[in-house]
Amino acid sequence: MTMFQPFELERFFAKHEFSAKWLLCSSDCETFPVRELLAMDPDALDRLLDLRLGYTETRGAPSLRASIADLYAGLGADQVFVHAGAEEAILNLFMAELSPGDTVVVNAPCYQSLGEIPRALGCRVVDWNLRVDGQGDAARWTLDPDELPGLSGGTAKIIVLNLPHNPTGALLTRDEFEAVVTYARRTGALLLVDEVYRRLEREQARRLPSVCEVYENGVALDVLSKHSGLAGLRVGWLASRRADVLDRVAVVKDYNSICSSGPSEVLAEIALRSLDRIVGRNRALVARNLLVFERFLAERPDFAAWVRPEGGSIGFPRLADGSDAESLAERLVAEAGVLILPGRFYRYDQAHFRVGYGRANFPDALERLGDWLDGRKD
Ligand SMILES: Cc1ncc(COP(=O)(O)O)c(C=O)c1O
Repeated sequence: MTMFQPFELERFFAKHEFSAKWLLCSSDCETFPVRELLAMDPDALDRLLDLRLGYTETRGAPSLRASIADLYAGLGADQVFVHAGAEEAILNLFMAELSPGDTVVVNAPCYQSLGEIPRALGCRVVDWNLRVDGQGDAARWTLDPDELPGLSGGTAKIIVLNLPHNPTGALLTRDEFEAVVTYARRTGALLLVDEVYRRLEREQARRLPSVCEVYENGVALDVLSKHSGLAGLRVGWLASRRADVLDRVAVVKDYNSICSSGPSEVLAEIALRSLDRIVGRNRALVARNLLVFERFLAERPDFAAWVRPEGGSIGFPRLADGSDAESLAERLVAEAGVLILPGRFYRYDQAHFRVGYGRANFPDALERLGDWLDGRKD
């Protein structure tokens, strides 16, 4: 018997991701071939070809950790811990820090592992619900930091935030974020911020500092999958000034992946040297696709509406007639090969669905959706 509930979103993707022609709900940005990555740096090919294929260091190659640490003000290589994607880092951190009966506050809806792993470990998981604040163009998804004392009761071992948020694209303001940090500091809670969509804020000025820069008990999570489109590398990391937390994570990691893949580490380091270029390209795609999608929604008010995401590469529209997005998704993928992700996989209102707008073929996929909607006979 497994302690985990099935990861429903992953099962849905497993069923459709490699057969549906038009993916309209991918969370990662556009990817590119190894050849293009190697061309970004004159030494790259030699470094890859000369790599000896033995085990690597459990916490990641020192040079890779140094490159990652350079992304954060005031952090060094010892405060970075490389993992096989963000997913392994989430599991290892929770296994390292949580015991049955601990309280964990998690933003809701959430990427399933952020809530499900603590639950499976026997913790009391308290939802911190996102809400829509404001009307019309001023509407935004947000979390109210004033709710934290009531939810945590001062006892939460870990407060978990994902900013920009999957699936709504919510982003806190600087003041809201500081209020969360202040509360965590007062109660001594660890603050895990899943920052895998950071750098994809609509307005760069809205980018929040990483939690590992501003909070001594902060743990930042990032990965090259989303903003950089390099999910196949499976290189993610935790960054934190809590040496004891990273030491406990190391104990867990010895029981699963032991260390990351050497070739992936080399390629990740090459990507980090060109991070601004890679992310800049994806930011441009996201900005273009957002305009295209907003035009689509404006032309089809009977189809769906959304609260505009403030960051990331995904958003969470709602079907205008309040019907079940899952039956729509099943018909859509069967009849037009277009994949959307039903809100049910977030244990949320069934009329919501996720769209992902970080891919180059987003306008074409949307056109297929439009054609299908135009020809649909209910
Ligand atoms: C919020 C969030 N965290 C973590 C992950 C896991 O990232 P990876 O698949 O690169 O391990 C995802 C992937 O969709 C995500 O959306």
